Amino acid sequence: MPESKPKLLVIEDDKGLQAQLKWAYDDFEVVIAGDRASALAALRADVPAVVTLDLGLPPDPDGTSEGFAVLDAIMALKPDTKVIVASGHGAHESALEAIARGAYDFYRKPLEIDTLGLIVQRAFQLHAIETENRRLAERAGEDRAVLGQLITAAPEMLKVARMIERVADASVSVMLLGASGTGKELLARGVHDSSARAAGSFVAINCAAIPENLLESELFGHEKGAFTGAIKTTEGKIELAAGGTLFLDEVGDIPLALQVKLLRFLQERTIERIGGRKAIAVDTRIVCATHQNLEAMIAAGTFREDLFYRLAEIVVRIPTLAERPGDAVLLAKHFLARFSREMNPKLKGFAPDALAAIDGWGWPGNVRELENRVKRAVIMAEGKLVGAEDLDLAESDAAEEDALNLKAAREHADRRMIRQALARTQGNISSTAKMLGISRPTLYDLLKQYDIHPQ
Ligand SMILES: Nc1ncnc2c1ncn2[C@@H]1O[C@H](COP(=O)(O)OP(=O)(O)OP(=O)(O)O)[C@@H](O)[C@H]1O
Ligand SMILES: [Mg+2]
Repeated sequence: MPESKPKLLVIEDDKGLQAQLKWAYDDFEVVIAGDRASALAALRADVPAVVTLDLGLPPDPDGTSEGFAVLDAIMALKPDTKVIVASGHGAHESALEAIARGAYDFYRKPLEIDTLGLIVQRAFQLHAIETENRRLAERAGEDRAVLGQLITAAPEMLKVARMIERVADASVSVMLLGASGTGKELLARGVHDSSARAAGSFVAINCAAIPENLLESELFGHEKGAFTGAIKTTEGKIELAAGGTLFLDEVGDIPLALQVKLLRFLQERTIERIGGRKAIAVDTRIVCATHQNLEAMIAAGTFREDLFYRLAEIVVRIPTLAERPGDAVLLAKHFLARFSREMNPKLKGFAPDALAAIDGWGWPGNVRELENRVKRAVIMAEGKLVGAEDLDLAESDAAEEDALNLKAAREHADRRMIRQALARTQGNISSTAKMLGISRPTLYDLLKQYDIHPQ
């Protein structure tokens, strides 16, 4: 054990309980405060990560007004503090109210030393992970400029950014593989902007969005009169990208017949417009992206292997947002700042419950989903802070549905922390167990219980 134990501030006016709690825990150093003034003094002096707060404090020992006032003061002073609220009668309403005001958890009196000890321990662990996330986010501040608009603090994503910068100037073709909303287009632009072709144009075409019979003309252009409706000669996207970069989005959706024609362009670097006779030389850099499994498509005969190798001289795999610990919160703050400037300037930031929800959400739609949710929340938010319900994350998460079901709430917290720790340690079991302060067998049990599969 390190010699300085983490500090737990207990705000409790009952002298008997004070004495009981003072020496109850070996793992924390317990600091006691009996009223608002001494509690806030202790908060400033000791900066405890976790606080337990009795809602019935003098001068309102039988109500909750003073307790809530203390909670509000703590949230204003140190919003990352994990406050665990204790209440006696009327527990149900006051617990809900406390969580809405930023408390982390609650328990119902009478006090059980062991139960409280567990809740407190988890609060410390969560706080440690969040602190680490913030530290990484701040440290990444300098790296952030790397690719213009790319925002990330996650080592996995910084690696991707560096790789893109390294290959930008080589005239190799780059294939970006990533789930939807992971930033494929942003990175494709990054390749262009970091290359010697930056002064040329960046031309993007989404091969999935254009009907098959129009795609050929879109890519290769056509001569006047080549088909009905071809009233004038039109350059295709390939030609328009001459001197710059052509981004073929959803390249897996190009039909086989057109794959042949694209391959010929990549081999010969010349095109013929539809209905045209002459070969036109085009010098362009190809970047492509897809969320599809091209290897499987090759095996199934729906994507040409030779085309794949032409397009994929460099393959970049983009991690999902869930694989970038800390990035969801970082990006959410970025989007909030951006959207609130335009749409709701009185917004100051996120409420603690919103940050916790963002951190705990799985983000199946990745950065695009995050961007959309934050945009909607900025429009919907009525006060100065965006809350979890503005993001529509409060109820959508089944585990959080019944915040008063302690067991479910704790399971949810467990899952979240395990997932985060696994991401942080790249799935290393021993390091994860150490980070969570549990033994390896316990971690294995939890993985099994929650059906979590590392990597
Ligand atoms: N790391 C990031 N930092 C800042 N903004 C980002 C980041 N990643 C993505 N974005 C923004 O999120 C949105 C979605 O990104 P983008 O369009 O590049 O993703 P995509 O993978 O092409 O998505 P889709 O599969 O839906 O086409 C864009 O508005 C983009 O600017
Ligand atoms: Mg895209």
